Amino acid sequence: MPVPGPGYSITVRVEAPPSASAAGDLTSAVGRVGGVITAFDVVESHSDRVVVDITCNAMSANHARDITEALESLPGVAVRKVSDRTFLMHLGGKIEVTAKVALRNRDDLSRAYTPGVARICQAIAENPDDARRLTIKRNTVAVVTDGSAVLGLGNLGPAAALPVMEGKAALFKKFAGVDAWPVCLDTQDTEEIIRAVELIAPVYGGINLEDIAAPRCFEIEARLRDKLNIPVFHDDQHGTAICVVAALRNALRVVGKDMSAVRIVVCGVGAAGSAIIRLLSQRGPADIIAVDIDGIVHRGRENMDANMAWVAANTNRADVSGRLHDALVGADVFIGVSAPNLFGADQVATMAEGAVVFALANPDPEIDPLEAQKHAAVVATGRSDYPNQINNVLAFPGVFRGLLDAQAHGITDAMLLAAADALADIVDGDRLNPSFIVPSVFDAAVAPAVAEAVRKAATAG
Ligand SMILES: NC(=O)c1ccc[n+]([C@@H]2O[C@H](COP(=O)([O-])OP(=O)(O)OC[C@H]3O[C@@H](n4cnc5c(N)ncnc54)[C@H](O)[C@@H]3O)[C@@H](O)[C@H]2O)c1
Repeated sequence: MPVPGPGYSITVRVEAPPSASAAGDLTSAVGRVGGVITAFDVVESHSDRVVVDITCNAMSANHARDITEALESLPGVAVRKVSDRTFLMHLGGKIEVTAKVALRNRDDLSRAYTPGVARICQAIAENPDDARRLTIKRNTVAVVTDGSAVLGLGNLGPAAALPVMEGKAALFKKFAGVDAWPVCLDTQDTEEIIRAVELIAPVYGGINLEDIAAPRCFEIEARLRDKLNIPVFHDDQHGTAICVVAALRNALRVVGKDMSAVRIVVCGVGAAGSAIIRLLSQRGPADIIAVDIDGIVHRGRENMDANMAWVAANTNRADVSGRLHDALVGADVFIGVSAPNLFGADQVATMAEGAVVFALANPDPEIDPLEAQKHAAVVATGRSDYPNQINNVLAFPGVFRGLLDAQAHGITDAMLLAAADALADIVDGDRLNPSFIVPSVFDAAVAPAVAEAVRKAATAG
Protein backbone atom coordinates (compact mmCIF):
# COMPACT_ATOMS: atom_id res chain seq x y z
CA MET A 1 0.00 0.00 0.00
CA PRO A 2 1.74 3.24 -1.11
CA VAL A 3 2.07 6.06 1.39
CA PRO A 4 2.66 9.75 0.66
CA GLY A 5 6.39 10.37 0.33
CA PRO A 6 8.96 12.93 -0.78
CA GLY A 7 9.24 11.28 -4.24
CA TYR A 8 5.90 12.93 -5.06
CA SER A 9 6.28 16.17 -3.19
CA ILE A 10 4.59 19.31 -4.54
CA THR A 11 4.41 22.95 -3.58
CA VAL A 12 1.07 24.55 -4.42
CA ARG A 13 0.92 28.34 -4.41
CA VAL A 14 -2.62 29.46 -3.62
CA GLU A 15 -4.43 32.75 -3.15
CA ALA A 16 -6.93 32.60 -0.30
CA PRO A 17 -9.19 35.00 1.61
CA PRO A 18 -7.44 36.54 4.65
CA SER A 19 -10.02 35.02 7.05
CA ALA A 20 -9.13 33.45 10.38
CA SER A 21 -10.25 30.06 9.10
CA ALA A 22 -8.31 30.15 5.80
CA ALA A 23 -5.28 28.19 7.03
CA GLY A 24 -7.47 25.53 8.62
CA ASP A 25 -9.60 25.21 5.47
CA LEU A 26 -6.53 24.77 3.28
CA THR A 27 -4.82 22.19 5.48
CA SER A 28 -8.09 20.27 6.00
CA ALA A 29 -8.66 20.13 2.24
CA VAL A 30 -5.22 18.56 1.73
CA GLY A 31 -5.75 16.15 4.62
CA ARG A 32 -9.18 15.07 3.35
CA VAL A 33 -7.68 13.69 0.14
CA GLY A 34 -4.76 12.03 1.97
CA GLY A 35 -1.94 14.53 1.33
CA VAL A 36 0.67 15.04 4.07
CA ILE A 37 1.62 18.69 4.61
CA THR A 38 5.31 19.27 5.30
CA ALA A 39 5.40 23.08 5.11
CA PHE A 40 2.93 25.98 5.11
CA ASP A 41 4.45 29.37 4.23
CA VAL A 42 2.65 32.69 3.82
CA VAL A 43 4.59 34.37 0.99
CA GLU A 44 2.41 37.48 0.55
CA SER A 45 -0.13 39.18 2.77
CA HIS A 46 -2.65 41.85 1.62
CA SER A 47 -5.76 43.37 3.16
CA ASP A 48 -7.99 41.35 0.81
CA ARG A 49 -5.99 38.12 0.35
CA VAL A 50 -3.02 36.00 1.41
CA VAL A 51 -0.73 34.01 -0.87
CA VAL A 52 0.40 30.73 0.64
CA ASP A 53 2.87 28.00 -0.42
CA ILE A 54 1.58 24.63 0.72
CA THR A 55 4.18 21.89 0.44
CA CYS A 56 2.94 18.35 0.78
CA ASN A 57 3.80 14.73 0.05
CA ALA A 58 1.55 12.75 -2.29
CA MET A 59 1.39 9.10 -3.32
CA SER A 60 1.52 9.53 -7.10
CA ALA A 61 1.23 12.11 -9.85
CA ASN A 62 -2.55 11.54 -9.93
CA HIS A 63 -2.75 11.99 -6.19
CA ALA A 64 -0.88 15.30 -6.51
CA ARG A 65 -3.56 16.40 -8.99
CA ASP A 66 -6.30 15.39 -6.52
CA ILE A 67 -4.68 17.57 -3.85
CA THR A 68 -4.52 20.56 -6.19
CA GLU A 69 -8.17 20.09 -7.17
CA ALA A 70 -9.23 19.83 -3.52
CA LEU A 71 -7.58 23.20 -2.82
CA GLU A 72 -9.07 24.80 -5.92
CA SER A 73 -12.57 23.69 -4.95
CA LEU A 74 -12.51 25.81 -1.75
CA PRO A 75 -14.59 29.02 -1.97
CA GLY A 76 -12.44 32.06 -2.79
CA VAL A 77 -9.27 29.98 -3.28
CA ALA A 78 -7.30 30.12 -6.53
CA VAL A 79 -4.30 27.93 -7.34
CA ARG A 80 -1.56 30.06 -8.90
CA LYS A 81 1.12 27.51 -9.54
CA VAL A 82 2.03 23.89 -8.77
CA SER A 83 5.72 22.98 -8.53
CA ASP A 84 6.87 19.37 -8.48
CA ARG A 85 9.79 19.46 -6.05
CA THR A 86 11.37 16.34 -7.54
CA PHE A 87 11.47 17.90 -11.02
CA LEU A 88 12.81 21.13 -9.52
CA MET A 89 15.66 19.18 -7.95
CA HIS A 90 16.68 17.84 -11.35
CA LEU A 91 16.56 21.13 -13.27
CA GLY A 92 19.88 21.52 -15.09
CA GLY A 93 21.20 18.26 -13.66
CA LYS A 94 22.47 17.30 -10.21
CA ILE A 95 26.28 17.41 -10.50
CA GLU A 96 28.91 19.77 -11.87
CA VAL A 97 32.66 20.01 -12.40
CA THR A 98 34.52 22.32 -10.03
CA ALA A 99 38.16 23.33 -10.42
CA LYS A 100 40.40 22.25 -7.53
CA VAL A 101 43.05 24.84 -8.33
CA ALA A 102 42.82 28.61 -8.16
CA LEU A 103 43.25 30.44 -11.49
CA ARG A 104 43.72 33.95 -10.16
CA ASN A 105 46.60 35.27 -12.27
CA ARG A 106 49.15 34.55 -14.99
CA ASP A 107 51.33 32.60 -12.54
CA ASP A 108 48.50 30.18 -11.70
CA LEU A 109 47.58 29.86 -15.36
CA SER A 110 51.14 29.06 -16.40
CA ARG A 111 51.32 26.20 -13.94
CA ALA A 112 47.80 24.79 -14.26
CA TYR A 113 47.76 25.13 -18.03
CA THR A 114 50.42 26.00 -20.61
CA PRO A 115 53.32 26.11 -20.54
CA GLY A 116 53.66 24.27 -17.19
CA VAL A 117 51.21 21.49 -17.96
CA ALA A 118 53.41 20.33 -20.83
CA ARG A 119 55.95 18.92 -18.37
CA ILE A 120 53.21 16.92 -16.67
CA CYS A 121 52.16 15.50 -20.04
CA GLN A 122 55.74 14.49 -20.78
CA ALA A 123 56.13 12.85 -17.39
CA ILE A 124 53.01 10.74 -17.99
CA ALA A 125 54.11 9.87 -21.53
CA GLU A 126 57.36 8.56 -20.06
CA ASN A 127 55.68 6.80 -17.15
CA PRO A 128 51.97 6.09 -17.81
CA ASP A 129 51.42 4.98 -14.19
CA ASP A 130 51.95 8.61 -13.20
CA ALA A 131 48.48 9.33 -14.60
CA ARG A 132 47.13 7.94 -11.32
CA ARG A 133 49.22 10.46 -9.40
CA LEU A 134 49.02 13.55 -11.58
CA THR A 135 45.51 13.49 -13.09
CA ILE A 136 41.89 12.98 -12.16
CA LYS A 137 42.40 9.26 -12.85
CA ARG A 138 43.44 9.10 -9.18
CA ASN A 139 39.90 9.66 -7.99
CA THR A 140 37.52 9.32 -10.93
CA VAL A 141 35.09 6.56 -11.88
CA ALA A 142 32.97 6.28 -15.03
CA VAL A 143 29.36 5.30 -14.40
CA VAL A 144 28.63 3.52 -17.67
CA THR A 145 25.21 2.50 -18.92
CA ASP A 146 23.44 1.67 -22.16
CA GLY A 147 20.08 2.49 -20.60
CA SER A 148 18.78 -1.03 -21.20
CA ALA A 149 17.59 -1.82 -17.65
CA VAL A 150 16.92 1.50 -15.92
CA LEU A 151 15.80 0.91 -12.31
CA GLY A 152 12.74 -1.32 -12.59
CA LEU A 153 11.52 0.67 -15.58
CA GLY A 154 13.13 -1.34 -18.37
CA ASN A 155 14.83 -0.27 -21.58
CA LEU A 156 14.51 3.54 -21.53
CA GLY A 157 17.69 4.29 -23.49
CA PRO A 158 20.74 6.38 -22.61
CA ALA A 159 19.23 9.87 -22.25
CA ALA A 160 16.48 8.72 -19.89
CA ALA A 161 19.07 6.82 -17.85
CA LEU A 162 21.07 9.99 -17.20
CA PRO A 163 19.14 11.20 -14.10
CA VAL A 164 19.91 7.86 -12.43
CA MET A 165 23.60 8.01 -13.37
CA GLU A 166 23.85 11.61 -12.13
CA GLY A 167 22.27 10.50 -8.86
CA LYS A 168 24.79 7.69 -8.61
CA ALA A 169 27.63 10.15 -9.19
CA ALA A 170 26.24 12.40 -6.46
CA LEU A 171 26.14 9.43 -4.05
CA PHE A 172 29.74 8.50 -4.90
CA LYS A 173 30.82 12.01 -3.98
CA LYS A 174 28.67 12.36 -0.88
CA PHE A 175 29.52 9.04 0.74
CA ALA A 176 33.10 8.42 -0.38
CA GLY A 177 34.53 11.56 -1.99
CA VAL A 178 34.78 9.74 -5.32
CA ASP A 179 34.45 11.85 -8.49
CA ALA A 180 32.15 9.82 -10.69
CA TRP A 181 30.91 10.86 -14.10
CA PRO A 182 27.93 9.50 -16.09
CA VAL A 183 28.74 7.89 -19.43
CA CYS A 184 25.45 7.02 -21.13
CA LEU A 185 26.23 5.20 -24.37
CA ASP A 186 23.97 5.46 -27.39
CA THR A 187 24.30 1.79 -28.26
CA GLN A 188 23.09 -1.53 -26.86
CA ASP A 189 25.49 -3.58 -28.91
CA THR A 190 27.83 -5.62 -26.72
CA GLU A 191 30.88 -5.10 -28.95
CA GLU A 192 30.29 -1.36 -29.24
CA ILE A 193 29.85 -0.96 -25.50
CA ILE A 194 33.07 -2.87 -24.79
CA ARG A 195 34.97 -0.85 -27.38
CA ALA A 196 33.58 2.47 -26.12
CA VAL A 197 34.56 1.75 -22.52
CA GLU A 198 37.98 0.59 -23.64
CA LEU A 199 38.46 3.87 -25.52
CA ILE A 200 37.52 6.12 -22.60
CA ALA A 201 39.30 4.09 -19.92
CA PRO A 202 42.53 6.20 -19.81
CA VAL A 203 40.69 8.92 -17.88
CA TYR A 204 39.30 6.68 -15.14
CA GLY A 205 40.57 4.77 -12.12
CA GLY A 206 37.57 2.44 -12.24
CA ILE A 207 34.49 1.55 -14.27
CA ASN A 208 31.10 1.18 -12.60
CA LEU A 209 28.71 -0.53 -15.00
CA GLU A 210 25.09 0.32 -14.27
CA ASP A 211 21.63 -0.69 -15.42
CA ILE A 212 22.85 -2.86 -18.31
CA ALA A 213 20.44 -5.74 -18.92
CA ALA A 214 21.28 -9.41 -18.31
CA PRO A 215 22.66 -11.52 -19.89
CA ARG A 216 24.60 -8.88 -21.90
CA CYS A 217 26.00 -7.41 -18.67
CA PHE A 218 27.90 -10.64 -17.85
CA GLU A 219 29.87 -10.73 -21.09
CA ILE A 220 30.53 -6.98 -21.08
CA GLU A 221 31.94 -7.10 -17.57
CA ALA A 222 34.00 -10.24 -18.11
CA ARG A 223 35.57 -8.97 -21.34
CA LEU A 224 36.28 -5.50 -19.92
CA ARG A 225 37.93 -7.07 -16.87
CA ASP A 226 40.21 -8.96 -19.25
CA LYS A 227 41.04 -5.94 -21.36
CA LEU A 228 41.46 -3.12 -18.84
CA ASN A 229 43.99 -2.55 -16.09
CA ILE A 230 41.45 -0.79 -13.85
CA PRO A 231 38.66 -2.42 -11.79
CA VAL A 232 35.34 -3.05 -13.58
CA PHE A 233 32.36 -3.54 -11.28
CA HIS A 234 28.74 -4.02 -12.32
CA ASP A 235 26.94 -2.58 -9.34
CA ASP A 236 23.59 -4.26 -10.03
CA GLN A 237 25.47 -7.55 -9.66
CA HIS A 238 28.21 -7.14 -7.10
CA GLY A 239 26.94 -4.19 -5.07
CA THR A 240 23.80 -6.20 -4.44
CA ALA A 241 25.74 -9.38 -3.69
CA ILE A 242 27.94 -7.62 -1.12
CA CYS A 243 24.91 -6.19 0.70
CA VAL A 244 23.04 -9.50 0.65
CA VAL A 245 26.00 -11.52 1.92
CA ALA A 246 26.53 -8.98 4.72
CA ALA A 247 22.85 -8.89 5.66
CA LEU A 248 22.59 -12.67 5.59
CA ARG A 249 25.61 -13.08 7.87
CA ASN A 250 23.89 -10.87 10.44
CA ALA A 251 20.44 -12.43 9.93
CA LEU A 252 21.93 -15.87 10.62
CA ARG A 253 23.51 -14.50 13.80
CA VAL A 254 20.03 -13.34 14.85
CA VAL A 255 18.44 -16.75 14.27
CA GLY A 256 21.46 -18.65 15.59
CA LYS A 257 22.15 -20.68 12.44
CA ASP A 258 25.43 -21.47 10.78
CA MET A 259 25.94 -20.75 7.08
CA SER A 260 27.13 -24.29 6.49
CA ALA A 261 23.78 -25.62 7.72
CA VAL A 262 21.33 -23.45 5.79
CA ARG A 263 19.42 -24.11 2.59
CA ILE A 264 18.95 -20.89 0.63
CA VAL A 265 16.40 -20.22 -2.10
CA VAL A 266 17.49 -17.45 -4.49
CA CYS A 267 14.59 -16.33 -6.67
CA GLY A 268 15.74 -14.42 -9.77
CA VAL A 269 18.80 -15.49 -11.72
CA GLY A 270 19.38 -12.24 -13.59
CA ALA A 271 22.06 -9.66 -12.89
CA ALA A 272 21.51 -9.50 -9.14
CA GLY A 273 20.58 -13.15 -8.51
CA SER A 274 23.52 -14.61 -10.40
CA ALA A 275 26.05 -12.47 -8.53
CA ILE A 276 24.41 -13.26 -5.18
CA ILE A 277 24.59 -16.99 -5.92
CA ARG A 278 28.26 -16.78 -6.93
CA LEU A 279 29.34 -14.78 -3.89
CA LEU A 280 27.18 -16.78 -1.44
CA SER A 281 28.57 -20.05 -2.81
CA GLN A 282 31.96 -18.98 -1.51
CA ARG A 283 30.53 -18.85 1.99
CA GLY A 284 29.69 -22.56 1.84
CA PRO A 285 25.95 -22.82 2.53
CA ALA A 286 24.46 -26.33 2.75
CA ASP A 287 22.69 -25.73 -0.56
CA ILE A 288 21.36 -23.00 -2.80
CA ILE A 289 18.23 -23.52 -4.88
CA ALA A 290 17.97 -21.01 -7.73
CA VAL A 291 14.53 -20.25 -9.14
CA ASP A 292 13.62 -18.07 -12.08
CA ILE A 293 10.50 -17.39 -14.11
CA ASP A 294 10.66 -20.96 -15.48
CA GLY A 295 10.95 -22.58 -12.05
CA ILE A 296 13.79 -24.28 -10.15
CA VAL A 297 17.09 -24.29 -12.03
CA HIS A 298 18.43 -27.84 -12.42
CA ARG A 299 20.99 -29.55 -14.57
CA GLY A 300 18.45 -31.08 -16.93
CA ARG A 301 17.01 -27.75 -18.00
CA GLU A 302 17.19 -26.97 -21.72
CA ASN A 303 18.49 -23.88 -23.54
CA MET A 304 20.69 -22.60 -20.74
CA ASP A 305 23.24 -19.88 -21.53
CA ALA A 306 26.70 -19.94 -19.95
CA ASN A 307 25.53 -18.12 -16.82
CA MET A 308 22.58 -20.43 -16.23
CA ALA A 309 24.69 -23.51 -16.94
CA TRP A 310 27.13 -22.38 -14.24
CA VAL A 311 24.27 -21.81 -11.80
CA ALA A 312 22.77 -25.22 -12.58
CA ALA A 313 26.12 -26.94 -12.11
CA ASN A 314 26.90 -25.20 -8.81
CA THR A 315 23.55 -25.23 -6.97
CA ASN A 316 20.73 -27.65 -6.24
CA ARG A 317 22.77 -30.63 -5.01
CA ALA A 318 19.78 -33.00 -5.21
CA ASP A 319 18.93 -31.72 -8.71
CA VAL A 320 15.27 -31.19 -7.85
CA SER A 321 12.84 -29.46 -10.19
CA GLY A 322 9.56 -27.64 -9.53
CA ARG A 323 8.29 -24.14 -8.81
CA LEU A 324 9.16 -21.48 -6.23
CA HIS A 325 6.58 -22.76 -3.76
CA ASP A 326 8.20 -26.24 -3.88
CA ALA A 327 11.63 -24.76 -3.28
CA LEU A 328 10.45 -22.86 -0.21
CA VAL A 329 9.36 -25.96 1.70
CA GLY A 330 11.91 -26.49 4.49
CA ALA A 331 14.20 -23.67 3.26
CA ASP A 332 16.00 -21.59 5.88
CA VAL A 333 16.47 -18.49 3.74
CA PHE A 334 14.62 -16.83 0.85
CA ILE A 335 16.42 -14.19 -1.20
CA GLY A 336 14.26 -12.59 -3.88
CA VAL A 337 15.59 -10.39 -6.69
CA SER A 338 12.88 -11.19 -9.19
CA ALA A 339 9.32 -9.88 -9.39
CA PRO A 340 6.50 -8.59 -7.16
CA ASN A 341 3.99 -10.63 -5.16
CA LEU A 342 5.10 -14.21 -5.80
CA PHE A 343 4.02 -15.75 -2.50
CA GLY A 344 2.31 -15.13 0.82
CA ALA A 345 2.41 -15.98 4.52
CA ASP A 346 1.19 -19.54 3.81
CA GLN A 347 4.37 -20.34 1.89
CA VAL A 348 6.59 -18.74 4.55
CA ALA A 349 4.89 -21.07 7.03
CA THR A 350 6.29 -24.03 5.04
CA MET A 351 9.87 -22.78 5.50
CA ALA A 352 12.10 -23.99 8.35
CA GLU A 353 11.78 -22.57 11.86
CA GLY A 354 13.57 -19.19 12.16
CA ALA A 355 13.11 -18.41 8.47
CA VAL A 356 14.93 -15.44 6.92
CA VAL A 357 13.15 -13.62 4.07
CA PHE A 358 14.89 -11.00 1.93
CA ALA A 359 12.26 -9.80 -0.58
CA LEU A 360 14.25 -7.29 -2.60
CA ALA A 361 12.28 -6.77 -5.83
CA ASN A 362 11.74 -3.03 -6.24
CA PRO A 363 9.48 -1.20 -5.75
CA ASP A 364 7.14 -4.07 -4.84
CA PRO A 365 8.76 -7.04 -3.09
CA GLU A 366 8.17 -10.75 -3.77
CA ILE A 367 6.03 -10.86 -0.63
CA ASP A 368 4.39 -8.09 1.37
CA PRO A 369 6.81 -7.67 4.32
CA LEU A 370 3.90 -7.58 6.77
CA GLU A 371 2.77 -10.98 5.46
CA ALA A 372 6.32 -12.33 5.64
CA GLN A 373 6.66 -11.19 9.25
CA LYS A 374 3.82 -13.48 10.30
CA HIS A 375 6.11 -16.53 10.09
CA ALA A 376 9.65 -15.31 9.34
CA ALA A 377 12.14 -14.40 12.06
CA VAL A 378 13.95 -11.78 9.98
CA VAL A 379 12.56 -9.83 7.02
CA ALA A 380 14.43 -7.40 4.77
CA THR A 381 13.39 -5.49 1.65
CA GLY A 382 14.87 -2.89 -0.69
CA ARG A 383 12.42 -0.28 0.59
CA SER A 384 13.16 2.67 2.81
CA ASP A 385 9.76 2.52 4.53
CA TYR A 386 10.48 -0.83 6.27
CA PRO A 387 13.28 -1.90 8.62
CA ASN A 388 16.32 -3.68 7.15
CA GLN A 389 16.61 -1.81 3.86
CA ILE A 390 19.12 -3.56 1.62
CA ASN A 391 20.44 -0.85 -0.64
CA ASN A 392 23.56 -0.90 -2.82
CA VAL A 393 24.58 2.53 -1.57
CA LEU A 394 25.84 0.65 1.50
CA ALA A 395 28.52 -0.92 -0.70
CA PHE A 396 29.55 0.83 -3.92
CA PRO A 397 30.93 4.13 -2.56
CA GLY A 398 33.23 2.39 -0.09
CA VAL A 399 34.20 -0.30 -2.59
CA PHE A 400 35.44 2.24 -5.13
CA ARG A 401 37.05 4.41 -2.43
CA GLY A 402 39.09 1.37 -1.42
CA LEU A 403 39.91 0.40 -5.00
CA LEU A 404 41.05 3.91 -5.89
CA ASP A 405 43.12 4.24 -2.72
CA ALA A 406 44.82 0.93 -3.47
CA GLN A 407 45.31 2.01 -7.11
CA ALA A 408 43.88 -1.42 -7.88
CA HIS A 409 44.21 -2.88 -11.35
CA GLY A 410 41.29 -5.24 -10.94
CA ILE A 411 38.71 -6.59 -8.53
CA THR A 412 38.45 -10.04 -6.98
CA ASP A 413 35.89 -12.00 -5.00
CA ALA A 414 38.19 -11.68 -1.96
CA MET A 415 37.68 -7.91 -2.11
CA LEU A 416 33.89 -8.31 -2.46
CA LEU A 417 33.80 -10.64 0.55
CA ALA A 418 36.00 -8.29 2.56
CA ALA A 419 33.53 -5.50 1.79
CA ALA A 420 30.62 -7.72 2.88
CA ASP A 421 32.31 -8.58 6.18
CA ALA A 422 33.15 -4.95 6.90
CA LEU A 423 29.54 -3.99 6.22
CA ALA A 424 28.20 -6.76 8.46
CA ASP A 425 30.64 -5.84 11.24
CA ILE A 426 29.28 -2.28 11.42
CA VAL A 427 26.25 -3.77 13.17
CA ASP A 428 27.88 -4.78 16.43
CA GLY A 429 26.44 -7.28 18.87
CA ASP A 430 24.73 -4.64 20.98
CA ARG A 431 22.71 -3.24 18.10
CA LEU A 432 21.95 -6.48 16.25
CA ASN A 433 18.32 -7.57 16.32
CA PRO A 434 15.68 -8.82 13.82
CA SER A 435 14.91 -5.22 12.74
CA PHE A 436 18.54 -4.12 12.47
CA ILE A 437 20.73 -6.46 10.44
CA VAL A 438 22.18 -3.75 8.18
CA PRO A 439 23.25 -0.21 9.09
CA SER A 440 21.44 2.88 7.87
CA VAL A 441 22.55 4.20 4.48
CA PHE A 442 23.35 7.44 6.33
CA ASP A 443 25.66 5.77 8.85
CA ALA A 444 28.90 7.69 8.31
CA ALA A 445 30.96 4.68 9.47
CA VAL A 446 29.90 2.47 6.55
CA ALA A 447 31.87 3.80 3.55
CA PRO A 448 35.19 4.23 5.42
CA ALA A 449 34.94 0.71 6.89
CA VAL A 450 34.11 -0.86 3.53
CA ALA A 451 36.85 1.20 1.84
CA GLU A 452 39.48 0.14 4.34
CA ALA A 453 38.56 -3.53 3.99
CA VAL A 454 38.69 -3.35 0.18
CA ARG A 455 41.96 -1.39 0.22
CA LYS A 456 43.55 -3.99 2.48
CA ALA A 457 42.28 -6.89 0.38
CA ALA A 458 43.47 -5.16 -2.79
CA THR A 459 46.95 -4.47 -1.49
CA ALA A 460 47.23 -7.95 0.06
CA GLY A 461 46.60 -9.69 -3.23
N1 LIG B 1 17.13 -4.03 -3.05
C1 LIG B 1 18.22 -4.16 -3.73
O1 LIG B 1 19.24 -3.89 -3.20
C2 LIG B 1 18.19 -4.70 -5.14
C3 LIG B 1 19.38 -4.79 -5.85
C4 LIG B 1 19.34 -5.32 -7.15
C5 LIG B 1 18.13 -5.69 -7.70
N2 LIG B 1 16.98 -5.53 -7.00
C6 LIG B 1 15.69 -5.87 -7.58
O2 LIG B 1 15.71 -7.23 -7.99
C7 LIG B 1 14.92 -7.41 -9.15
C8 LIG B 1 15.74 -8.09 -10.22
O3 LIG B 1 16.82 -7.25 -10.65
P1 LIG B 1 17.84 -7.75 -11.78
O4 LIG B 1 18.65 -6.57 -12.17
O5 LIG B 1 18.55 -8.98 -11.35
O6 LIG B 1 16.81 -8.12 -12.97
P2 LIG B 1 16.97 -9.14 -14.17
O7 LIG B 1 15.97 -8.75 -15.17
O8 LIG B 1 18.41 -9.25 -14.58
O9 LIG B 1 16.55 -10.57 -13.55
C9 LIG B 1 15.25 -10.85 -13.15
C10 LIG B 1 15.16 -12.32 -12.78
O10 LIG B 1 13.92 -12.54 -12.13
C11 LIG B 1 13.30 -13.70 -12.69
N3 LIG B 1 11.86 -13.60 -12.59
C12 LIG B 1 11.03 -12.71 -13.20
N4 LIG B 1 9.75 -12.99 -12.89
C13 LIG B 1 9.78 -14.07 -12.07
C14 LIG B 1 8.78 -14.83 -11.44
N5 LIG B 1 7.49 -14.54 -11.60
N6 LIG B 1 9.16 -15.88 -10.67
C15 LIG B 1 10.46 -16.19 -10.52
N7 LIG B 1 11.45 -15.50 -11.09
C16 LIG B 1 11.11 -14.45 -11.87
C17 LIG B 1 13.77 -13.72 -14.12
O11 LIG B 1 13.63 -15.02 -14.69
C18 LIG B 1 15.22 -13.28 -13.95
O12 LIG B 1 16.02 -14.40 -13.64
C19 LIG B 1 14.41 -6.01 -9.51
O13 LIG B 1 13.13 -5.82 -8.97
C20 LIG B 1 15.39 -5.09 -8.83
O14 LIG B 1 14.83 -3.84 -8.53
C21 LIG B 1 17.00 -5.03 -5.73
